[in-house]
Parts: sequence; C-alpha cells; structure tokens
Amino acid sequence: MTDVAAAAADPAASLTVRDNRTGNEYEVPIVDGTIRAADLGKIRVSDEQPGLAVYDPGFVNTASCRSSVTYIDGDQGILEYRGYPIEQLAEKSSFLEVAYLLIHGALPTKEQYDAWEHEITYHTFVHENVKGFMHGFRYDAHPMGMLMASVGALSTFYPDARNIEDPHNRHMQIVRMIAKMPTLGAWSFRHAQGKPFVYPDNELSYTENFLSMLFKMSEQKFEADERLVRALDVLFILHADHEQNCSTNAVRSVGSSQVDPYSAVAAGVGALYGPLHGGANEAVLRMLRRIGSMENIPAFIEGVKNGNERLMGFGHRVYKNYDPRAKIIKQAADDVFEVTGVNPLLKIAKELEKIALEDEYFVKRRLYPNVDFYSGLIYEAFQFPPEMFTVLFAIGRTPGWLAQWNELVQDKEQKIARPKQIYTGDRTLDFVPAAERWA
Ligand code: CMC
Repeated sequence: MTDVAAAAADPAASLTVRDNRTGNEYEVPIVDGTIRAADLGKIRVSDEQPGLAVYDPGFVNTASCRSSVTYIDGDQGILEYRGYPIEQLAEKSSFLEVAYLLIHGALPTKEQYDAWEHEITYHTFVHENVKGFMHGFRYDAHPMGMLMASVGALSTFYPDARNIEDPHNRHMQIVRMIAKMPTLGAWSFRHAQGKPFVYPDNELSYTENFLSMLFKMSEQKFEADERLVRALDVLFILHADHEQNCSTNAVRSVGSSQVDPYSAVAAGVGALYGPLHGGANEAVLRMLRRIGSMENIPAFIEGVKNGNERLMGFGHRVYKNYDPRAKIIKQAADDVFEVTGVNPLLKIAKELEKIALEDEYFVKRRLYPNVDFYSGLIYEAFQFPPEMFTVLFAIGRTPGWLAQWNELVQDKEQKIARPKQIYTGDRTLDFVPAAERWA
C-alpha cells in the first residue's frame, strides 16, 4: 500500500482544527506527514475574507514538492542520493557516475555509462562567440558573476531548449550543461588571470579536463597528480545535490514558469553565489585569514557569541548534527595536503572547530561544521583564489539542479511558484498629480 493510500485508509491520519473565530471544526487529512496548505484555505470567517494561510518566511517548515532525488535526515546526519549513502558514493563512485545516478534515478550499466561519458565529453566545447562575451567582462569580474551570465547566455545558443516537454530535448540540454559548466568555470578563472582560454581535451576525464582548462600553459599535454584529481572528483560528488536548498529552490521556482533550463540554472548559480549558501566557502577562507593566528581565536569567538559576526562554515538549516559531507571532506583534505603540503590555516580551523564543539553557545544551537568549513582549505591548496570556490561548488551541484528540474517539469502536481504575502502597506490613498504636490 502506498503512503497516500495508507493515509486515506487510516481515518486517524487527519488533523481536527477548530477555528475559535467561528467555532467551526475542520478535518484536514495528513498525508506523508504533511497537510495541504490549500486545505487550510477552506478555513475562513466569511466568504468575503481570504482563507487561512501559513506564514513561513524562508520555507522553514513547508514542503514544496515530492522528490525522489535526495534524502536527508538532519538529526541523524544522513545524506543519500537516490537511496545510496553519500559515504559509499564518495568512496567508490565517480562524479560522472553520480551525475548519471541523479539524473536517471538508477546506476548505469557498463554500456549506459560509456555512452553517458562519451556524450558529456563531446559536449564540453562551447560556441566560439562565448569567448567573445567572456572577454568583455572587467579584469576583476567575480567568476560567479561570469558563470551566472554565461550559463544564462547559453539559452540564446540553444533556443530549442525551450521545448521542455520533449524528453530527448531535455536530455540534450542536461548533457550540454553538465559538460560545459567546467569550461565556463575554467574560462572565468583564466579571464581573471589574463591567461588565454584552454580548450577542452577529450582524452582526459571530466575532472582532469577541468584542471587542464584551469592550469595548462605551454605543455603539450596537461598531467595532474591522480590524488588531486580524485580529491576534486570526491568534492564534486559531495556537492552534487542537497534536496531543496536555496539554489535548488531557485532553479525549481524559476523553472516552474516553464522557461528553458539554462535560465533556470542561471538563477540557481545566482542563489549559490550568496555568502549564506555556496559563497560560505569563500567567506570561511576570508574569515580564517582575518583571524590570522591562534591567539586571535578567543576574541573572534566572543565576537560571534555577542552576535557581531557569524562563524562561517558552521550551522545548517537541516543538519542539527555533524554534516556527513564535512566528515568526508576532512579526510579528503588530508589526502590533498599530502601532495601540496599543509595549509597553515588548517591549524586555526581545527582549533575553531574544537572550541565551537565544546562551547555552550554552539552546542545549545546545535551548530556543527558544514560542507564549507574545510572545502575552502582544500581549494586553496589547489591554488584556487577564494573567488573560485563557489564556482567549484556550482560545477558539482549542476547534476543535482538538473535532476530536480527534470523531476519538476514532469511532476503533474507542480504549478508556477507563487507564494502569498501578508500585505503591510497603505490602502486606497488618493493620488495627487506631481504638479499639484510640488506646487
Ligand atoms: N555562527 C554563529 N551563530 C549562528 C551560526 C553561525 N554560523 N549559524 C546560526 N547561528 C545562530 C543564530 O544566530 C541563531 O541564534 P539565536 O537563536 O540566538 O538567534 C541560531 O543559531 C539559529 O540560526 P538561524 O540563522 O536561524 O538558522 P538558519 O537555519 O536560518 O540558518 C545558516 C542556517 C546555514 C544560514 C546559518 O547557520 C549560517 O548563517 N551559517 C553560516 C553560513 C554558512 O556556513 N553557510 C553554508 C551552509 S551549508 C552549504 C550550503 O547550503 O550552501
């Protein structure tokens, strides 16, 4: 029996609501641990007045969709993609296989994987005109701004992407976007450095090719240390999806207007850019640099507790336990530092974590390190400037955004996103023309 059928068969699975304004009672069905907000709309004082609504800034307790992509249990610190624990995927899978899993809902056969890898590899090139507009950005343009603009601009190169009803067409855009994101990300990095753009190399793996487009200079063939390639691939896996987070919600919200997926994903990149979301990894590094040395830590922690600032890379809307991704990242950091040497900021990060995990302020609020706390240190070891950190997050998150978008456009229950508001402004003022007001 499905959950829905079970709920229908169980009369106890309902909420009895008594409206004390009218004395009326209502039965509201509970399905999958939720009530329909629309059912509350039936509760009203009179036909002239609007029905009851829920007020939930930031969607703290509102489910916006049904999804089979990612499962999170924030209290237990569990994260699964399509049912597979993140720990196993990070240890045994590859980013491209995880991307396949997220998009298709199941692991690929050998033939399916080979075809997928081939498709992604052969779509990594972008139209030559993309180079032209990327060169048009200022020398100090933030790479996330460049990425957001260039992903959005891809919609003009693929006008057929508007045909979102056609599964084959959707597949093509999904492949293109996963394939081209590293090219756009790498080129925004090269632009900031004033270096020539490097074209994709189809003989390299997805992650190796990305490193080649970032760092290749005059050598014939770019070769990266395998341990670094693997560490970056794991970081991409860890970022690949995270259910209804701010940027995914942006992709879904914009996608609900039935716009093409490039425009929807550009909105996701914009949301990710912010310091409370993907921009936190950049903010963590700047924070660690500002703290600078061990003796400054106590004063910094006091500042956080006094509400003057936040301990970036700590806390999460969903995880009220250690973020499982942060645990894996700590391990990846050790592997990377074995190749690159230890980042001196690591000592400050570890001390901050130690203090925070014991301090009542953080313990009481259940604030633990999140995915961004250590990832910046790894990225810095790769010699990425902090502005690039969120671009790396965006490349990793692209399959997740697209899996969620693909689910959204096929979900018959979905509608254009359009929240309600509580109006707090003036009403029925009489307009006096400017000439009279200023006379
Ligand atoms: N440092 C200090 N205090 C904090 C922090 C922090 N990092 N995070 C939350 N708090 C406090 C907050 O002040 C509040 O205290 P009080 O109850 O006294 O007012 C309480 O904890 C609850 O915080 P909140 O802001 O209501 O929680 P939220 O669920 O709305 O915010 C968050 C979640 C991730 C935006 C927040 O924890 C935060 O700003 N963290 C720092 C930024 C960060 O690391 N973001 C990356 C998130 S993980 C990756 C991603 O999603 O991109």
